[in-house]
Amino acid sequence: MSRVAVFPGSFDPMTNAHLDVARRAAALFDRLVIGVLNNPRKTPLFSMDERIEQISAAVADLGAHVEVIGFDGLTVDFAARNSAGFIVRGLRAVSDFEAELQMAHTNRKLQPGVDTVFLMSALDFGYLSSSLTKEVAQFGGEIAGMVPPPVADALRRRFATSG
Ligand code: PNS
Repeated sequence: MSRVAVFPGSFDPMTNAHLDVARRAAALFDRLVIGVLNNPRKTPLFSMDERIEQISAAVADLGAHVEVIGFDGLTVDFAARNSAGFIVRGLRAVSDFEAELQMAHTNRKLQPGVDTVFLMSALDFGYLSSSLTKEVAQFGGEIAGMVPPPVADALRRRFATSG
């Protein structure tokens, strides 16, 4: 039986904590679909195409069974479209747990056939967040080590003329 998982997120941008989760999930599942959410309630720094390009470059070495796809709407519908039985999410700290528990239960209510699998972010990356990474980059701080190289390049280019 082929085990398929989706790894949904905003990924604006992908951090090394996300990449660590993607890398470990890629080793657990036969196919891993990284889902980049187009959230109409948020104005992202990077467009959907930019985020897909950055993530695709960051996960290129993980193998052809890892794909990056944009999506709208519900994560469980995205999972169904990809015949996925699992949703992967990362937990950086206890503070992530409450919101993630609520999401996992909501998704399970919507689609009982899909289970959420949590991977604890590597300790080295537990402090990282997309928003803080953007703030550091915006004010000229060093972001190497916080985000994958394609994301670091994109952040430096984006903030090169401002700040
Ligand atoms: O990277 P994020 O912003 O923490 O990811 C949150 C995400 C994309 C997983 C969550 O907002 C989501 O699943 N959105 C899609 C809409 C949805 O399915 N909502 C109901 C279930 S929580």
